[in-house]
Amino acid sequence: MREVVLPVIGTVAAWRREARALARAGVRPEAVVWSVGAETGDLFAGGPVAPAAEGRELRLPRAAIETIESALCHSDPERFARAYATVLRLTDGTVRWGDRSDPAIRRILHQAKAVRRDIHKMHAFVRFRELPSDRPRRAFAAWFEPEHPIVEAATPFFARRFGDMDWLIATPSVTARFIGGSLTFTETLDAAPPPEDATEDLWRTYYASIFNPARLMVRAMQSEMPKKYWKNLPEARLISELIREAPRRAAEMQAALPTEPPARRAQVAREMARRAEVVPVVGTLEEVKAQADRCTRCALHGPATQTVFGEGPQDAALMFVGEQAGDTEDLSGRPFVGPAGQVFETALQSAGVECRGVYVTNAVKHFKFVPRGKRRIHQRPDAGEVEACRWWLDLERRHVRPRLIVALGATACAALTGSGKDLLRRRGRIEAAGDGTPVLVTLHPAYILRLPDAAQRAAALAAFRADIALAAEAGGGGQPGGQFGHQDQHAQPADHQQHEGRRAAHDGA
Ligand code: URA
Repeated sequence: MREVVLPVIGTVAAWRREARALARAGVRPEAVVWSVGAETGDLFAGGPVAPAAEGRELRLPRAAIETIESALCHSDPERFARAYATVLRLTDGTVRWGDRSDPAIRRILHQAKAVRRDIHKMHAFVRFRELPSDRPRRAFAAWFEPEHPIVEAATPFFARRFGDMDWLIATPSVTARFIGGSLTFTETLDAAPPPEDATEDLWRTYYASIFNPARLMVRAMQSEMPKKYWKNLPEARLISELIREAPRRAAEMQAALPTEPPARRAQVAREMARRAEVVPVVGTLEEVKAQADRCTRCALHGPATQTVFGEGPQDAALMFVGEQAGDTEDLSGRPFVGPAGQVFETALQSAGVECRGVYVTNAVKHFKFVPRGKRRIHQRPDAGEVEACRWWLDLERRHVRPRLIVALGATACAALTGSGKDLLRRRGRIEAAGDGTPVLVTLHPAYILRLPDAAQRAAALAAFRADIALAAEAGGGGQPGGQFGHQDQHAQPADHQQHEGRRAAHDGA
């Protein structure tokens, strides 16, 4: 029996190293006992020794690695053993990644989701208190009790967000310190929360002022801010009082309402409706992504594993919009990493476009499917779902401000131009989004993959590549300074006709 003791800091990286070495040495999963922190001494000395298997290099899909490593941040003591046994089975091909009928994979997916949820809660509920500091940077401290050992995974977010301050987040097991721009972790020695100070009072005042008794939804409030987090939230002390007082204050507000609308009401209402059409830029793109991770704007968030937000540089000249996350994307949390993504990536490469230089996203950020046996069958999102998710797409567009957007398929086309009809006629054309940004219409790579006839498929693929090449050309090859400035609102490229001709040839027309 082998005992592997992983360190409290850097647990996941250490597990990765150990798992590789054990696999190479052919050590069977049942021959390993995993733990974190302290050695268990000779507990297993003299235990049965499982015979060695053939040594091998671990080979895993990227989506599997990311999810398994998230699940390793769960508090379940069995997670290391389960992960090691699973990576061996994935390497041997005795199980397929994403197969939810497999209990270990199902458990890993479930635990990775719980870890992601815990990380979101930490991002939302850490409350800093200012500390006296004799350095030029202001100093803050926070105490937080996560459900899982997520400090190392969750705190880089705070480093990006509060990069100009020194701060410390202590949890019962690990403390993260961000001093002078560098993030370090140590085991927590003194597990006592930092002292109260005036910042707490300010926070309470703020919370009381944003609380609207007429809109009290205790259930919703508790699911957003579960009770277990209340004890470390200064504002939580106000909650019971606010809830008790809510009916009286709501009645008072109701009684104070005017019975006739003032004359200017209609005018104001018109103005508000006009303003509501403009999506505000809410925080940084990173913050928008964090908000989208908790999206409940439509019912698709329920069955989906996670939100699949866009990826790519924020100053990308080219933005590609697909339909929705597929099965692989739903598991990995990244857009276009499945079979359609491969067609897309090859087309980018053949057009000489650097994949990392473009921004790639979807019209709908959650996977819509119906379960059938072990499979999840893709369903096209409906107009309501596309409309609900347009909130996020619009925010991505306002942050990235691409010179050209490529609509991959009818759903993206509908989200961007208002209509997804007649795609075969429109593909290869450059149209305009509501704000005038040029939108190149093309087919979805998954549609091409589904074409039953090989010759048809080859022609469609060539036409798709030609569309991508046109996008690269029109969007400045994905580089700043291309043909379209942001102001060229309704511009049509000079080679539009030429491309139409090229398309006709591909289509055999
Ligand atoms: N299809 C899409 O439209 N988007 C993805 O991310 C994957 C497949």
